[in-house]
Amino acid sequence: MKTQALIDTARKLVADDKGVLAMDESNPTCNKRFAKLGIPQTKEARRAWRELIVTTPGLGRSISGAILYDETVRQQTNEGIPFVKAVMDAGIIPGIKVDAGAKEMAGHPGEKITEGLDGLRDRLAEYAQMGLRFAKWRAVITIGKDIPSRGCIEANGQALARYGALCQEAALVPIVEPEVLMDGTHTLERCRKVTEEVLRTVFNQLYRQRVMLEGVILKPNMVLPGLDCPQQEGVDEVADATVGCFLRAVPAAVPGITFLSGGQSPELASARLNAMNARWQSQLPWALAFSFARAIQQPAMEIWSGQDAHVTAAQQALLHRADCNRAARRGKYTA
Ligand code: 13P
Repeated sequence: MKTQALIDTARKLVADDKGVLAMDESNPTCNKRFAKLGIPQTKEARRAWRELIVTTPGLGRSISGAILYDETVRQQTNEGIPFVKAVMDAGIIPGIKVDAGAKEMAGHPGEKITEGLDGLRDRLAEYAQMGLRFAKWRAVITIGKDIPSRGCIEANGQALARYGALCQEAALVPIVEPEVLMDGTHTLERCRKVTEEVLRTVFNQLYRQRVMLEGVILKPNMVLPGLDCPQQEGVDEVADATVGCFLRAVPAAVPGITFLSGGQSPELASARLNAMNARWQSQLPWALAFSFARAIQQPAMEIWSGQDAHVTAAQQALLHRADCNRAARRGKYTA
């Protein structure tokens, strides 16, 4: 029964050309984004922003699931509706970030290891009881001189797999997120090689930890040239490099791949997702979807800027980006 429920939830997250909205910024990350726009960095401002998102009329037509943060799942809308319920009322599956962040990795200068396994079983049990149906854990891999190291890739892969096994035990679908960062001067080819090695390691570890792949969603980076690389390939080349890499490294049992946006502009993230689906969809074993945070939220947050008077316009901008990405899943996105 639990197996079937996990499979059903994973499939639903990528059904009907929809995708996942990441709105699980930790307090420091959310505050950083607010600070840039002059929005007060308070618990109430974070609550108001999340209320704006989950009460956006029509959001459920393009968004299948929303990743929340621990602070948010304990908060309510102005009308006193708990956020988890508000999300469900919008026809969206509620999920939650459960990692405790990427920290400096001992003995590995410039690299990070994600923490949060201690006590995770109990936290997951509480979240499942609150009605949350899936979880997220993000590992961070940096490309640079002599990095990433095998030690960093393996430790992060194992942590993702141990998290995945604990999630499935608690009947939560694990979103497995190994993010190869786009910062740096590296080429597209280097990103492809590193991403392939990371994915192969992650799936090997998922197998060893007995994680059921039919009940997992993969949330990876796209294969991109580094932000400071002089050669910036076009949308079609990025799409082909990304899909080619995933065809080699991601088992067909996985129901869906939901990309992170990673600091790409909203338009470019949609255009690249669109090209992947337009050029490859009929030949793929898994759905190619999205789980963007910045590429959906950023234009709306800039319009809102903490002002009640701008809520409706901000919601329209949010819905627009969500709809753009649904169109990109069909290969029908136009900027
Ligand atoms: P971005 O789409 O802004 O990269 O965020 C996705 C995410 O959830 C990172 O963990």
